[in-house]
Amino acid sequence: MVRKPTPEDKFSFGLWTVGWEARDQFGDATRPWTDPVESVHRLAELGASFVTFHDDDVVPFGSDAAERDRILARFRGALEETGIQVEMVTTNTFSHPIFKDGAFTSNDRRVRRYGLRKIIRNVDLAAELGAKTFVMWGGREGAEYDAAKDLYAAHARYAEGIDTVAGYIKEKGYDLRIALEPKPNEPRGDILLPTIGHALGLIAKLENGDIVGLNPEVGHEQMAGLNYTTGLAQALWADKLFHIDLNGQRSIKYDQDLVFGHGDLFSAFATVDLLVNGFPSGGPRYDGPVHFDYKPSRTENMQGVWDSAAANMATYILLADRARAFRADPEVQEALEASGVFDLAQPTLGEGETLQDLLADRSAYEELDVEEVAARGFHFVRLNQLALEHALGAR
Ligand code: GCO
Ligand code: MN
Ligand code: MN
Repeated sequence: MVRKPTPEDKFSFGLWTVGWEARDQFGDATRPWTDPVESVHRLAELGASFVTFHDDDVVPFGSDAAERDRILARFRGALEETGIQVEMVTTNTFSHPIFKDGAFTSNDRRVRRYGLRKIIRNVDLAAELGAKTFVMWGGREGAEYDAAKDLYAAHARYAEGIDTVAGYIKEKGYDLRIALEPKPNEPRGDILLPTIGHALGLIAKLENGDIVGLNPEVGHEQMAGLNYTTGLAQALWADKLFHIDLNGQRSIKYDQDLVFGHGDLFSAFATVDLLVNGFPSGGPRYDGPVHFDYKPSRTENMQGVWDSAAANMATYILLADRARAFRADPEVQEALEASGVFDLAQPTLGEGETLQDLLADRSAYEELDVEEVAARGFHFVRLNQLALEHALGAR
């Protein structure tokens, strides 16, 4: 039996996850529409602490002001009744046909201006609800055809859009940070800011980049064949890991959005190890909400939806226990030592040592027994087997 989630776990769910009616490219919905108010109650019962949403998940696109107020008042009621908080808000700039060529980077300036207005409106709502993170996933920002975009201008417009929103947040004094969510493709053939690294590169050029970071998603990095944990690590190193989207993906294919751990389980173990234990040498940690962005499979009925929501949390709890046991095992500590893992934290030049000193150090080069150093075994396989045995609960 897996223990029940507690508020310390900081589990969070997008309302679009459990609320997905399972309509796909090839088939109709397999589940009924779910009232977001009901989702809030069900997630609270399961032990989640937070929900997140796109504007349109709660207030249908095109609702007038009075309808919007009525819906939001009812939604706030559910939050108060359950104690669930809103930690992140995001904007849907991908469903309505107006966004078919993107929002910030649409070739049509009217769309860019409309998109900016839709986003700003939701930034105000995010601040009002006490959210700390505003996610921007630009699923339609991209193209299928290289000639279709001035790719220089597209990056400039993307940066302009993000900077304008970030400037607005600062001007208003909102306690809110923007988190960009990279994805390589789907729905567009090629999406701008396809990976964590691309997004970090753009953030570095922003005027208001200090409040712009990342919301990396497991499946999105794995769709590009990349290592999610390595990506999280670079985002942490850059002080830019503002939020996370956990789910499961089985190799390079369409975005599967499986339950966390139901894709590459051993990679999920490494991710949780980083999240709960941090780097071996210390350094920055992620202590924000543990947010799941998955899709209950199309085969599931409503019971299956709630079972799969619980499965995300149970898997995370199990992996967190296993990851803690892994680091606490003296044999693992000894294996880490033998593999030189702790040695990497030592700067390559000594304190006060200059490059000139290194050039003069004959023991570092002329007199180094290169063959002897090359003969060292790093014993990484033994270390990995220890990790696997811990992950499987054999230790
Ligand atoms: C996807 C994305 C989205 C975003 C969401 C938040 O592949 O569909 O992961 O689910 O996370 O739109 O902006
Ligand atoms: Mn996704
Ligand atoms: Mn996501």
